[in-house]
Amino acid sequence: MDALVPLVDASEVIARLRASTGAYDDEPVDILEHCLQCAANLVLTQPDDEELQVAGLVHDLGWLTPKTGGVDVVFDARHDAIGSELVRNALGDRVAHLVGGHIRAKRYLVATDPGYANVLTPRSVETLVFQGGPFDAEDIAQFETDPDRDALLALRRADDAAKVPGADVPDLETWIQIIERVADAARR
Ligand SMILES: [Fe+2]
Repeated sequence: MDALVPLVDASEVIARLRASTGAYDDEPVDILEHCLQCAANLVLTQPDDEELQVAGLVHDLGWLTPKTGGVDVVFDARHDAIGSELVRNALGDRVAHLVGGHIRAKRYLVATDPGYANVLTPRSVETLVFQGGPFDAEDIAQFETDPDRDALLALRRADDAAKVPGADVPDLETWIQIIERVADAARR
C-alpha cells in the first residue's frame, strides 16, 4: 500500500466515489453501487443520522488506491482503518470512527448473533478469515462499550444488505449536498 493521502474536502470525497464506478472487490456489484445501496439502506433504518448515512456511503473507499485516470482495488485486510484515515479530515472524527469500525461490527455480529453468518456473501465469509475471525469474549465486551455501538451495527447490517445487482437506489448526485453538509459540520 502506498502512503495514504487523505481526502481533504467534500469535493475530493465525491470524486473518489465517482472513480469507484466499475471497481469490484469480488462482490456482485461495483463499489459505488454497493456504497449507494448501503447509504440508501441507512436512510430507511436511520433517517435522522446523516453522518451515519455518509459513513455508509464512504465505508469501502479504503479498498481503493488512486492511479492516473481512476482507481485500483487493493486487497488489504486493513481497508477499514485505511478508509477511516482517508475520510477523517474531510468528514470528521465520527464518520471516520464509523468507517473504521465496520469490520469490528462484522466480527462482533458473527460472534454474538447465531443467524448472522447466513446473511454474509461467500466473499464476506472469505474475508472474515483474514480480518481476524469472530470476536472473543474480551473483544465483545470492549465493542459493547463503544458509544456508537448501535450506529456501527446499523452500518454493518446496511452494508451486508447492499450487494443486490440492479437495485434501484438514489444516485451519487442525490448525496452531494448531504456530503457537503457533513463536511461543513466537521470543520466547525
Ligand atoms: Fe461494504
